[in-house]
Amino acid sequence: MHGHRFEAKHHKRLDSPYRRRILPPAATLKRFGLKKGMSVADIGAGSGYFLFPAARIVGKGAAAYAVDASKDMLEVIASKRPPSNVVLSHTKDGYRFNIDSKSVDYVVASAIVHENEPVKFLKEINRIMKKGATLLVIEWRKESTRSGPPMEERLAPEQVKEFLAKSKLKTVKTVVLNARYYAVVAKKG
Ligand SMILES: C[S@@+](CC[C@H](N)C(=O)[O-])C[C@H]1O[C@@H](n2cnc3c(N)ncnc32)[C@H](O)[C@@H]1O
Repeated sequence: MHGHRFEAKHHKRLDSPYRRRILPPAATLKRFGLKKGMSVADIGAGSGYFLFPAARIVGKGAAAYAVDASKDMLEVIASKRPPSNVVLSHTKDGYRFNIDSKSVDYVVASAIVHENEPVKFLKEINRIMKKGATLLVIEWRKESTRSGPPMEERLAPEQVKEFLAKSKLKTVKTVVLNARYYAVVAKKG
C-alpha cells in the first residue's frame, strides 16, 4: 500500500521561505554530488523546487529532465520559464519515464517515493541511471511535523534502504537533514 499523490493545486506549499531555509535546494544537490556537466532527472519535479537549481548547476550543455505524472505541475514549471536545458517529460502512470535507459548521471526523487509503489518506482529509476550514477532520495521523517503526509504513509529510512536493495541500488548513506526530512543516497553499481 502506498500514499496519495500530491495535488497540483497545492503547488505553492512546495516553495515556502521555511522550506528554503531548512532544505536549501542548490546546496542540498551539491552536498550530495551534483556537478556541472551531469545529466540530471528530477522525478516528480512538482513546482520545480529542485529542478531549477539542478538545471543551473549542470549547465546548458547537460539535460535536466523534469518528470511528473501531473500535466498541471509541468505547466506550473513551464510558466516559470525554465532554463533551455530543461526537458519537460510527462509520465502517464508514473512507472514508465520517457527517458532512455542508462542515460542519466544523477536522479532526484524528493518527497515522492512514499506516494508510489516503491520497488516498481525505484526499478524504473534504476533503468534510466548510468552505471555509477547517483540517486538522491529525500523523504519525510516518520515523526510528527507541522505539515506533511499522514504518518502511516511515511517511510522509515530502513524501509527505503530495503526498497533500494530490492531495486538493485546500493545505499551509500542516510542523513537526517532537519526536523522534517532525511536523505538517502544510493548508487547504481
Ligand atoms: C510532494 S510533490 C514533491 C515535488 C518536488 N519533488 C519537491 O520536493 O518539491 C510530489 C510530486 O511528484 C509527482 N509524482 C508522484 N508520483 C509520481 C510518479 N510516479 N512519477 C512522476 N511524478 C510523480 C506529483 O505529481 C507531484 O508533483
